[in-house]
Amino acid sequence: MPAVIDLRWRSLYEPLGLAREDFLEECEAVDAEPETIHVAAYDDKLLIATARIERNDTYDFYLGLMATAPMYRNKGVGSLVLQHAEDLAHQRGAEVLGLHAHPAAVAFYEKNGFTRLGKTAVGLIQHTLILAPAMEKTVRGVTRAQWLKNE
Ligand SMILES: CC(C)(COP(=O)(O)OP(=O)(O)OC[C@H]1O[C@@H](n2cnc3c(N)ncnc32)[C@H](O)[C@@H]1OP(=O)(O)O)[C@@H](O)C(=O)NCCC(=O)NCCS
Repeated sequence: MPAVIDLRWRSLYEPLGLAREDFLEECEAVDAEPETIHVAAYDDKLLIATARIERNDTYDFYLGLMATAPMYRNKGVGSLVLQHAEDLAHQRGAEVLGLHAHPAAVAFYEKNGFTRLGKTAVGLIQHTLILAPAMEKTVRGVTRAQWLKNE
């Protein structure tokens, strides 16, 4: 999945100055889990957005590594990917989808129906303090017709 790795890297980790090797190590273990699902959006053959959901001890499913390519942001692509991830989680029996939001993306998740839980994960990456609020949403599966209407 070189294109997925590259989009995640450029959107999420490079801005924090994290070493690419550390990032790959962190990604690969969860990517390889049999129940991890990858959601992606393409413009023709170009990957323009990605996210993944994984089984998690705290939530039914946990969403991570959500990113839209810069040129395609604010056009609704991220919301469609998120909606599809919710649908896939729901189809697998999930009631709750959880995540930790990048501070700048909280508004995006709120717009998509996620609420803050009042808990915050604290991380230190390359001398930068990252405060990532925990958020969750009760997911409702969308029908195929609703999905196509939104495309
Ligand atoms: C967050 C992200 C995935 C959203 O993808 P997108 O394709 O632009 O999402 P959409 O077009 O569906 O929705 C954009 C909405 O979210 C809001 N939003 C997105 N990023 C925002 C930000 N940094 N600050 C404030 N609002 C933001 C926009 O205001 C917009 O709302 P509007 O439609 O009412 O104007 C994208 O901005 C991104 O890749 N950011 C960098 C990586 C990142 O932070 N990922 C999240 C990790 S938890």
